[in-house]
Amino acid sequence: MKAITRTTYGGPEVLQLKEIPKPIPKENELLIRVHATTINRTDCGILTGKPYIIRAFTGLTKPRDLIPGTDFAGQVESVGKNVKSFKLGDRVWGLHDEGLASQAEYMTIRADKAVTRIPEKVSYEEAVVCAEGAHYAYNFLNKFKIDNNSKVLVNGATGAIGSASVQLLKYYGATVTAVGNTKNIELIKSLGADKVYDYQKEDFTQDTERYHFVLDAVGKSTFSKCKHLLLPKGIYVSSELGPNAQNLYLPLITKLKGGKRVVFPLPINCKRSIIFLTELLETGKFKGVVDKVYQPEQIMEAYNYVLSGQKTGNVILSMS
Ligand SMILES: NC(=O)c1ccc[n+]([C@@H]2O[C@H](COP(=O)([O-])OP(=O)(O)OC[C@H]3O[C@@H](n4cnc5c(N)ncnc54)[C@H](OP(=O)(O)O)[C@@H]3O)[C@@H](O)[C@H]2O)c1
Repeated sequence: MKAITRTTYGGPEVLQLKEIPKPIPKENELLIRVHATTINRTDCGILTGKPYIIRAFTGLTKPRDLIPGTDFAGQVESVGKNVKSFKLGDRVWGLHDEGLASQAEYMTIRADKAVTRIPEKVSYEEAVVCAEGAHYAYNFLNKFKIDNNSKVLVNGATGAIGSASVQLLKYYGATVTAVGNTKNIELIKSLGADKVYDYQKEDFTQDTERYHFVLDAVGKSTFSKCKHLLLPKGIYVSSELGPNAQNLYLPLITKLKGGKRVVFPLPINCKRSIIFLTELLETGKFKGVVDKVYQPEQIMEAYNYVLSGQKTGNVILSMS
């Protein structure tokens, strides 16, 4: 089969498109013909091994998996003898943010992991762009009570996490102010944002409104820059560690002080996210944003683009 491979941590230049043997599913696994996967910021972390903490999960000195890839949408090609929950031909999608070796024509996954059927009218591409960014967005938001009384500001609303966050917040009923770049103002409005800041022309920190939450989905701001935007018990969440990894220790300090605080939610339980997002996909309440579609032969170009931090929503790698 055709697969993207690498044997060391490094930039996109360590990636090679190769012919390697198809994996063989164990008795509790599915063999999946991958049709679409994404190249996302988690893949970039696993590719480069940075931040170094990621190596605790993906291999200390060299990558544990030969093949990168964290999400997939494809068709069940065969099942291990103990698998009862899936059958040949099922259209499925899933995610594992420590790596799934999904940037290949075939992959295996345990049937009890974060894998579920794709709703009938949803394509492989439409499903796969609801995996990584939406999983993080859901995990950043589901720790809090968010409803139609909530006012939330999302910085970086054009990214995979940001664009998913705006949609999920609207689903929960919140009033959303979203910050993005000039070229995507209409896109951000179409995701449901009630008020939009173009960060290339205006400074959202000058806003006179006050919010229950500020979600910095791109990690370009800080608690100190956003604190005045929060209501007295308001919460600041960032997708990044921040300068000097401050978002790891500020949660403790701000909790002890009381009042406005920082929370750094740990994104766990991919299976719960995939089940939740499948329901939203089925009912048309969530749609992943697609930027570009690449072919396996363009793998270095694709990773370089995602590493630039400038993609809009999600980048697909087509394995069809
Ligand atoms: N905590 C976690 O578990 C976790 C997991 C995955 C990812 N992350 C991190 O979360 C961040 C976002 O990930 P993602 O996949 O959503 O990113 P992404 O898809 O690469 O998007 C980032 C978006 O933000 C925009 N942007 C850049 N600078 C900005 C600024 N100053 N203000 C507002 N928008 C700006 C970019 O477009 P323009 O540059 O064109 O404006 C781009 O559309 C990344 O830093 C990633 O490393 C964290």
